[in-house]
Amino acid sequence: MVKFKFSSTWRCDVVSFWKKNNEIDENNELELDLEHIPKHVAIIMDGNGRWAQQRHLPRIAGHKEGMNTVKKVTKIASDLGVKVLTLYAFSTENWKRPETEVSYLMGLPIKFFDTFVPELIENNVRVEVIGYIDQLPTATRAAVENAMEQTKDNTGMILNFALNYGGRAEITTVVQEIASKVQEGTLQVAEITTDLLSSSMMTAKLDQYQDPDVVIRTSGEIRISNFLLWQVAYSEFVFLETHWPDMNEIIFKQALVEYQQRNRRFGGLKK
Ligand code: IPE
Ligand code: IPE
Ligand code: MG
Repeated sequence: MVKFKFSSTWRCDVVSFWKKNNEIDENNELELDLEHIPKHVAIIMDGNGRWAQQRHLPRIAGHKEGMNTVKKVTKIASDLGVKVLTLYAFSTENWKRPETEVSYLMGLPIKFFDTFVPELIENNVRVEVIGYIDQLPTATRAAVENAMEQTKDNTGMILNFALNYGGRAEITTVVQEIASKVQEGTLQVAEITTDLLSSSMMTAKLDQYQDPDVVIRTSGEIRISNFLLWQVAYSEFVFLETHWPDMNEIIFKQALVEYQQRNRRFGGLKK
């Protein structure tokens, strides 16, 4: 078994509730099993604003640094053999933020893909997007569509951005589509199954990797914030104290080690 070794104290960074004080074994070496890397890793990249505020910088400085972190984590995940990396970049609720911040965030995909597409191609990474991209400013949408087009033949990791994405909106859209088909007589009520719903979600393009194996959220918030509500039914959750711009290779791998400690039962019995 191929393993990546860690020294002992990493768990201090994981928001691990009951484990925090009584189960950290200082002498225990934790290891990342490179043969059981989660196939779909989804990340709620949170804490950019607080990272900036702690440094007396404007919030947008945190978003800029967060973009560099996206580049680093993409490379790390792809090298580890992750099949899909979904990154929550902008929610359907983030429009509530001040106009200057929203407008900066809308410019980020343009900056990101302008400089990063060659490296994505070099690493055989395919870009995908889930979310209501038709509601994005034209230049943002064009940058995203261009990146998808330029990387469409890549066969390695899928870098899937959730951009103007919201889980409730997604489910609502699917319900509307299904109701329309029933109304026009092309679908029977009995044909509405969980499989049909799954294959109607925006994540359908991820094929067998639609549901995240693990959802990681940075910055200490312990909530889902409207992310992949349908798809996380049996995902594992790892909450980290680290703000997104401070995410690095060690912390990312620590989160995967935490995932590997879990026993996934899917309603069945322990293996
Ligand atoms: C995450 O960082 C990025 C987006 C939501 C776009 P935040 O901007 O939410 O940072 P905090 O939570 O205010 O620190
Ligand atoms: C979730 O973070 C959305 C993204 C990371 C894009 P938020 O910062 O918007 O979430 P809340 O408002 O703290 O729940
Ligand atoms: Mg936040």
